[in-house]
Amino acid sequence: ARIDLRVCDEVDSTNAEVLRQVAEGCGSKLPISIADCQTAGRGRRGRSWQSPRGENLYLSMGLVFHGGFSVLDGLSLVFGVAVAEALEMLGVTGVGLKWPNDIFLPAGKLGGILVELQGELQEGVVRVVVGIGINVHMLKAGGVDQPWSSLASACPDTEWTRNRVAAAVIGAVADAADDFSNKGFGVFREPWQKRDIYNNRLIQAKDGELKGVGNGIDGSGNYLLVTSDGGVVPIRAGEISLRVA
Ligand code: BTN
Repeated sequence: ARIDLRVCDEVDSTNAEVLRQVAEGCGSKLPISIADCQTAGRGRRGRSWQSPRGENLYLSMGLVFHGGFSVLDGLSLVFGVAVAEALEMLGVTGVGLKWPNDIFLPAGKLGGILVELQGELQEGVVRVVVGIGINVHMLKAGGVDQPWSSLASACPDTEWTRNRVAAAVIGAVADAADDFSNKGFGVFREPWQKRDIYNNRLIQAKDGELKGVGNGIDGSGNYLLVTSDGGVVPIRAGEISLRVA
């Protein structure tokens, strides 16, 4: 497919920008948007994403999948694996995934992924916008409510440029999307699980109502908690968030 790459100085949200391009009808082109800063960066679960100018990567890609919404189970985890692999190719070590698709380094969250859908415009055709935010140079952050990290602070001996990170991530996401379309989610299960930061840890969901030991994902990408009575509870993506108990 032909790529339609737009790099701009400032945008509300690169996800919103790609969704607009898709709504206008981008044909067979794959829209990609990169911005130097975002004025209304979006995070998962309705949160905002701090997007200071010049420091980080804000990237969104529009992708097409066939087979209707049901084929999308697990897709957001696929993108997490792709970003982790891209960073590892650039020499980053210790990249972890926090279900469903937060990118972690030992010091804290390095990046996040927001997947948004643009309905079935034609029968069976689903357009997906995957938005990826990666902290590259960020040295201080206002309003970020959890420990975070950046490539420059974690790997100070590397000269980080956003171009290099963007190129690696775009390639990895496109390849992963092809693999997912051709082979399904199954081939991503092991690559996801080996980076699972919650594996074997006591974690909680629903404000502590649900507690269990992290035990990886099932074949659809649901997270599995083993509770104290030995039961296995699958947590569906989008349902609730997990944290350390
Ligand atoms: C999360 O909450 O962890 C997901 C954050 C996703 C942020 C990226 S930055 C590029 C793209 N545009 C947005 O508005 N959000 C995503």
